[in-house]
Amino acid sequence: MCGIVGYNGYKPAVSILTEGLSHLEYRGYDSAGVALIHEGKLAVHKAAGKLSALEAKLDTALHLQTGTTGIGHTRWATHGLPEERNAHPHLSQDGKIAIVHNGIIENFQELKTELLAKGHHFISDTDTEVLAHLIEEEISSSSSICDGFAKALRRAHGAYAVVMLTSDRPDVLYAGRMSAPLLLGIGQNENFVASDVPAFLAHTRDVIFLEDYEIACIEKDAWKIFSLDGLSPLEKKVHHITWDMQSASKDGFPHFMIKEILEQPRVIKDCLAGRIIATPDRRQVTLNELNRLAFPSRLRIVGCGTSYHAGLWGQHLIEKLSGIPTAVEIASEFRYRDPLLCPDELVLAVSQSGETADTLAALRLAKTKGCQVIGLCNVVGSSIAREADIVLYTQAGPEISVASTKAMCSQMTLLSLLALFLGQEKNPSVYDDPFLEALIALPDQLSAALPEMQEYSARLAKRYSAAHNFYYLGRGQCYPLALEGALKLKEISYIHAEGYPAGEMKHGPIALIDHNFPTFALAMNDILFPKVESNIQEVLARQGQVIALVQNNNSMRPDLPVDDLWVLPSCHPVVSSFFALTAMQLFSYHVADYLGKDIDQPRNLAKSVTVE
Ligand code: M6R
Repeated sequence: MCGIVGYNGYKPAVSILTEGLSHLEYRGYDSAGVALIHEGKLAVHKAAGKLSALEAKLDTALHLQTGTTGIGHTRWATHGLPEERNAHPHLSQDGKIAIVHNGIIENFQELKTELLAKGHHFISDTDTEVLAHLIEEEISSSSSICDGFAKALRRAHGAYAVVMLTSDRPDVLYAGRMSAPLLLGIGQNENFVASDVPAFLAHTRDVIFLEDYEIACIEKDAWKIFSLDGLSPLEKKVHHITWDMQSASKDGFPHFMIKEILEQPRVIKDCLAGRIIATPDRRQVTLNELNRLAFPSRLRIVGCGTSYHAGLWGQHLIEKLSGIPTAVEIASEFRYRDPLLCPDELVLAVSQSGETADTLAALRLAKTKGCQVIGLCNVVGSSIAREADIVLYTQAGPEISVASTKAMCSQMTLLSLLALFLGQEKNPSVYDDPFLEALIALPDQLSAALPEMQEYSARLAKRYSAAHNFYYLGRGQCYPLALEGALKLKEISYIHAEGYPAGEMKHGPIALIDHNFPTFALAMNDILFPKVESNIQEVLARQGQVIALVQNNNSMRPDLPVDDLWVLPSCHPVVSSFFALTAMQLFSYHVADYLGKDIDQPRNLAKSVTVE
């Protein structure tokens, strides 16, 4: 969380920094700030709230235009309220050092006590300000700025990425990384540093990924990278980014979220591309990345939020098609419970961003236990992608909306391929079922259904937007989808929603049902349909309102008096999950839109959760 950017070049830094921050706002938007060198001194400007508040302030400070070196930050609050005094950049005691920081300094309290005893005063409640003061202290007793910077970072525990600007060396930016993303953009007579590529993609496509325990000194026409420990110079590979800003723009849609939902047919197609081959008898899955994979005895899937839901969804399919016992765990729980893992257990870390701190920690834990780890990621070159033994990319393209949509769709597609791939190793009859063919047909089928789904969901949303609570019910593979439907609704509309396995309702949750508590029931045409139908009846018997998501070839009894029967196209039972997912995403989107919520940047959230 938090987005950081730095520029060192020949153009006015302020506009480059604010432009960069606009592409990082998905990482947090509680406050924003910049620091520049102006007439040899640091000039710092900050504002609480979104970047637009800072931009309004900067409009009146035109003198800032002269500085060609600077740093910027967009915050997701961890320590301290989202107020201006807690906004970054933070300054050292002597005002000569400004830093921007993403992450948490876990021992900041201890460091603060030490610095207070030395006479330091703090203006903010943040851990970042403590780090700025610590850097000042360490530099004062070091042979060089770089040395002092590194000494301070060595003393900071936790996960962080930090960029420093000092008026004592206004021609250099200092950057360091410890478990939070940080990359350098290499340009012509100008260099960049940022939390993510879109911050500088308009200026350069050449990127260097910093690793943990690395620091960088960035000048406008040179850069050097050192190990944090011994300050030994490191050779780094420059990567060339091939995707463009077009895929990271709204393209005329009112919100990224709706653009990304409607992109899903294309996303599924891209995810399948090159991963299916035709043999003389049939089409089958090929995952070249897994050619050297030893067939695992067990599979453990870890992830957070939507990616965890995708993992739960994949579990059903993988167990069914491959016979590999599969467990799914929330990464933040897994990492701290000393899990039993056998060395021949395969661990699959699912993450759109590839930077989620808990998922990354789960991956590292699995590696220490000798397990092979596959990263299932969207962001190319992300930490999980780099640290996993094997990476499977979901090919969804940049997902900007904080509410994840197309990422889950792509994860489900890739998990489907993985289930078939693992299945075909052991079970020659895996292709007797027309699942793969249904998957191949899915993009066109979904694309054809989208206009009607859009229209229906907008009408439905209007009717239910006054609700304060919602249940989402599903069974089997629809249970993880129910969890996801509820998460989507609560995160962007702020309506309380819970996903439940439909069969669990009678064990307690049904007590809440009355005519004001609607239920969204996933009654797809699979073997559990009759069971879900009974659960719907139980809700109706308590005067609950029900939206039932069904398919046009199922036998939902016409006398079932649900309030709304949303009929989706008929298709293969597993593939129906993609329709159900899209329907719930559209419903949440339209409810939030109707209520006038900030859809792409919901309150209290950030896209990439790089803190615990
Ligand atoms: O980048 P990741 O897939 O690792 O992110 C995990 C969660 O933070 C993420 O899915 C989150 O739950 C979404 N905002 C939900 O829409």
